[in-house]
Amino acid sequence: MILKSINEVSEKALNSFLCGNPELDRFLSKYALRNDQNGYGKTFVLEDNNVLVGFFTLCSSSIKFEEFPTTNGHSLPRYPIPCIRIARLAVEERFQRKGYGKELLKQAFLKIIDASTTVGVRLIVVDAKEISKKFYEKYGFTHLKVDKPSYYILLQTVIEAFKETHQ
Ligand SMILES: CC(C)(COP(=O)(O)OP(=O)(O)OC[C@H]1O[C@@H](n2cnc3c(N)ncnc32)[C@H](O)[C@@H]1OP(=O)(O)O)[C@@H](O)C(=O)NCCC(=O)NCCS
Repeated sequence: MILKSINEVSEKALNSFLCGNPELDRFLSKYALRNDQNGYGKTFVLEDNNVLVGFFTLCSSSIKFEEFPTTNGHSLPRYPIPCIRIARLAVEERFQRKGYGKELLKQAFLKIIDASTTVGVRLIVVDAKEISKKFYEKYGFTHLKVDKPSYYILLQTVIEAFKETHQ
């Protein structure tokens, strides 16, 4: 398996990607490259045996202190909290439920940990689609607000999980 920047991928591969969600397919074929080049979101694709099996897009973000649940015991400052957003993440239909989603999430976490050595990052957030909520919950994300699609995980939690698996 190899992770590549969208800049290294053919237009044909981007255009033929289907994940079951037309909005995500359209994003990859029409907007992801331009967004990457203009600094709105960096997209990485995962290839296995030269086949594009999935992608994710990361961008910087922040959430207001008021958006954060008060009951979770973390002390946070009363100003916007710096985040990295997994803006999109999808696996090609034919390859779903084979572990590629987990691999994409791991690769996204590694990119975010790397970025966090030079830019402040407290949280990782994602707007989960109905179909993918269980997937994110499985890897420790929790709701920001029950009635909103946003999920989050503390960066520190992710770093500690990586440390544990590499001990
Ligand atoms: C959601 C998605 C990213 C998951 O990727 P995937 O490659 O199918 O998932 P994986 O095979 O890596 O699964 C990893 C684990 O999550 C579980 N899982 C994956 N999708 C799940 C779902 N929809 N509901 C419950 N569990 C799910 C798997 O059972 C697996 O658990 P296990 O290790 O205990 O068996 C993928 O199905 C997808 O792209 N769906 C359509 C597009 C979409 O909605 N993307 C999300 C937008 S933010």
